[in-house]
Formats: sequence, structure tokens, C-alpha cells
Amino acid sequence: EVIIVSSAEEGARRVADEFERVIREGSGRATLGLATGSSPVHAYTELIRRHGDEGLSFAGTRAFLLDEYVGLDADAPQSYHRFIREHLTDHIDIDDALVLSPRGEAEDPVAEARRYDASIRESGGIDLQILGIGTDGHIGFNEPTSSLASRTRVKTLTRQTVEDNARFFDAPEDVPVHVLTQGIGTIMEARAVVLTASGRQKAAAVAQLVEGPLSARWPATALQAHPHATVVVDEEAAADLE
Ligand code: F6R
Repeated sequence: EVIIVSSAEEGARRVADEFERVIREGSGRATLGLATGSSPVHAYTELIRRHGDEGLSFAGTRAFLLDEYVGLDADAPQSYHRFIREHLTDHIDIDDALVLSPRGEAEDPVAEARRYDASIRESGGIDLQILGIGTDGHIGFNEPTSSLASRTRVKTLTRQTVEDNARFFDAPEDVPVHVLTQGIGTIMEARAVVLTASGRQKAAAVAQLVEGPLSARWPATALQAHPHATVVVDEEAAADLE
């Protein structure tokens, strides 16, 4: 399903509705897959609002992050674990011990990736995965040419993604080039996914995602084969759709 929204607030509500549905259906035992970056932030703000104003409870809910920079520990200012605490989990009643991410500081990142993938499976899998999309069509940090069957592993960021993410760091050379990311095969096992994007710079990737041929050149196209995928985009991000 593709939903084109006319404001960031409407997009945030649509994405938050998906979260609320899964949390209510899970009766306190739902497992969420969380993304970082700019795209989900409005939806997280809306979830914090619903928690405060409407009593939406995350007690008992478990969460797995999509990815983490290799070399950054959970408290490093630019770590994704810290990002998710600042933008969501510190402001809701989720148990911190149930918010899990790949350990960027692990001595053996390859083994850490395998462990993390197994821990998602052992927990019973993810009920709802939220995703952004890179300007090059990545989901998680599965850059172009990633295997569509890939599992959680170490990846090298493309120059484009390093440039795109430099805004979160003091200098472009501070952006780590290696990441731990859920694989495309891992993401596809989530029972539902919701991808959200805004802005003209995402339009080419969104057009490929929705209308392009299934191809590892544009990793997000894998979602065409997902049985329960929702795409929430603003008019600018939808501008290249036919
Ligand atoms: C973040 C992630 C990435 C971002 C993507 C878009 O956890 O996995 O795939 O979703 O790079 O980033 P923004 O939303 O900052 O444009």
C-alpha cells in the first residue's frame, strides 16, 4: 500500500497508527523494529505524544534497532542506540533492557552480527519494522548490490551515504564507514513493515521502490515481495511516481 500524505503531521499519524495497532494486538508483548535517521522522527514524536496524552503503553514491548556504526558504543553521541533513546525510548514506558541493538563496540563485529540476527529470531521475530530509505535505495544499511537474502552483517557505507549522514557529525571524515545492519532477508521476516520518506531527494529511490523492477541495485525493491508493506511518503518524495 502506498499512502501519499500532504504534511509531515499526517505522515507521522499514519506511521504511528501502524505502531499502535501492533502494540494493541500484541497486548504488551509486541516486538518493534526501530530505524534511526530523520525519517521516523516525526512518527516517534507522535508516539511520545500518544503515550503522554492517550495512555498508549509500551510496557512489555521489545525493540530491535536496524543498525549501528561499528566502533561506536551505545553511549557515543552519534550512536544509533543513543539516537533512539533521545528521540523515543527515554520518553515512553518501554523497559530499557528490552531495547536491543547490534553492539558497535564488539571486538568481533562478524560474530556480533550473527548473534544479533539469532537473537531476533529467538525472540519470536519482529511484528512491525519501521524503515527509512537512502537516496541510493538502501534500507537499513543494505547498500546497492546487497544480496536480497542477506542476514545481519558488517557492511561498508557508500560515499553517497557517508555524505548524506555527515550532517549528524562534526566533519564528514568522522562518519564511520563500517556498520552492522540487519540484512534484507532479516528485514523481510518482519511480519509488517512501514517505510517512510519525505523530500525531493528521496523521489528517485521511492519511484524504484514502488515501480521499478526487483533488483539488488535498489535494495528497497525487495519490499515489493513483502506481504504486508506500507509506504508513507510526502508529495515531494512521491514526485517521480507515474
Ligand atoms: C537508519 C537506517 C537508514 C536510514 C536512511 C534514511 O537506521 O537504517 O536506512 O533510514 O539512511 O536516512 P534519513 O531518514 O536520515 O534520510
